[in-house]
Amino acid sequence: MRAAAAVFEKLHTPLTVTEVDVDSPGPGEVLVRVVAAGVCHTDALAMEGDMPFPSPGVLGHEGAGVVAAVGPGVTSVSAGDKVVIGWPWCGSCRNCLEGQPRYCLSLGPLVIAGSRADGSTALRRLDGSPLHSHFFGQSSFAGYSVCAANALVPVPADTDVSILGPLACGIGTGAGAVLNALRPFTGSSIVIYGAGAVGLSAVMAARLTGATSIIAVDRLPSRLALARSLGATETIDVSVAGTDPVAAVHEICGGPADFAMDCAGAVAVLQQAASSVGMRGTVALIGGAPAGASFSLDHMSTLWGKRVVGILGGEGRSASLIGALIALNKQGRFPYDKLITSFPLDQVNDALEASRAGDVIKPVLRMPE
Ligand SMILES: NC(=O)c1ccc[n+]([C@@H]2O[C@H](COP(=O)([O-])OP(=O)(O)OC[C@H]3O[C@@H](n4cnc5c(N)ncnc54)[C@H](O)[C@@H]3O)[C@@H](O)[C@H]2O)c1
Ligand SMILES: [Zn+2]
Ligand SMILES: [Zn+2]
Repeated sequence: MRAAAAVFEKLHTPLTVTEVDVDSPGPGEVLVRVVAAGVCHTDALAMEGDMPFPSPGVLGHEGAGVVAAVGPGVTSVSAGDKVVIGWPWCGSCRNCLEGQPRYCLSLGPLVIAGSRADGSTALRRLDGSPLHSHFFGQSSFAGYSVCAANALVPVPADTDVSILGPLACGIGTGAGAVLNALRPFTGSSIVIYGAGAVGLSAVMAARLTGATSIIAVDRLPSRLALARSLGATETIDVSVAGTDPVAAVHEICGGPADFAMDCAGAVAVLQQAASSVGMRGTVALIGGAPAGASFSLDHMSTLWGKRVVGILGGEGRSASLIGALIALNKQGRFPYDKLITSFPLDQVNDALEASRAGDVIKPVLRMPE
């Protein structure tokens, strides 16, 4: 199968849109015609080497589309089904069996090995030379994706598939961190550092809970205005000279907050988030960071009952989370579509730049028909 794809040729270099050859699906695999794929900050991390993915290859991990063909043994989906491509999982390790496939013990190789488990790749240049595939099990910056059947989340036939891909990563991560992992209790306070796609999804999810203070922190006033319209009860603009977000949080909450999330992806912000919560408070690591980054926390204030948790992909099963978010969106209770701006695939580098510059919150690439 021939398809257009955005090829990651080497580090620190724009992607190149070209034609590639895509394998037919093997046993347990499905060929998905990708309708659209979201651009997540994590794709940019891979392009800069902060998430190691071998080049040349194809990135993209928020794909959604229509099943084009199924491989031998696949019965869970059939040609014509609309699907979101979720994160890959082995299905047999301890964490998968316990209903936490985001923490699959094989997650590392499944997302960044650049191939199937047997080392083969699903993509080739037209001259036959291999291109790394299976970024997050999908490499969906392409017109077609070969992925494992168990990663697919079928969706109702009347759903607009072109906006669904980001539910698998960025949007699902922010929402799931709140709804599956932190579960803010009635009357609690939650601070969300970073009002990008992940943070704004957390804001929308927090509004679905009994949390009474939902505080968004960012350096872009336009994003804070959007955060307010989506459910933030207070905002803190760190671009205003002299603003100390931790002091501002304490002032708003009358003391430390109950929950704080780093959705900005900077160690300095994570430390502010950690200082925003106190005894029995929880700080969540969600944002990425440069390769090899570490952080330190004050010992005594952490010892006194503070919880520090990392959260991947919004936890839980993709099918449950994505299904719930689609239903909430249809009900008007999770309007994540307001965060999306579409770009044709051949403008992928503009989409990445618009996201980096803060002009667009969630770019989604539409594949050529
Ligand atoms: N844990 C996971 O499973 C997971 C999944 C998806 C994305 N991520 C990561 O989450 C992070 C957020 O992703 P995104 O797509 O929302 O990115 P984004 O770039 O859209 O949003 C980041 C936001 O942080 C803001 N920001 C930057 N510096 C700040 C500061 N000092 N104080 C407050 N806000 C600041 C930016 O203005 C921006 O609005 C990224 O690092 C991404 O790699 C993690
Ligand atoms: Zn597993
Ligand atoms: Zn992502």
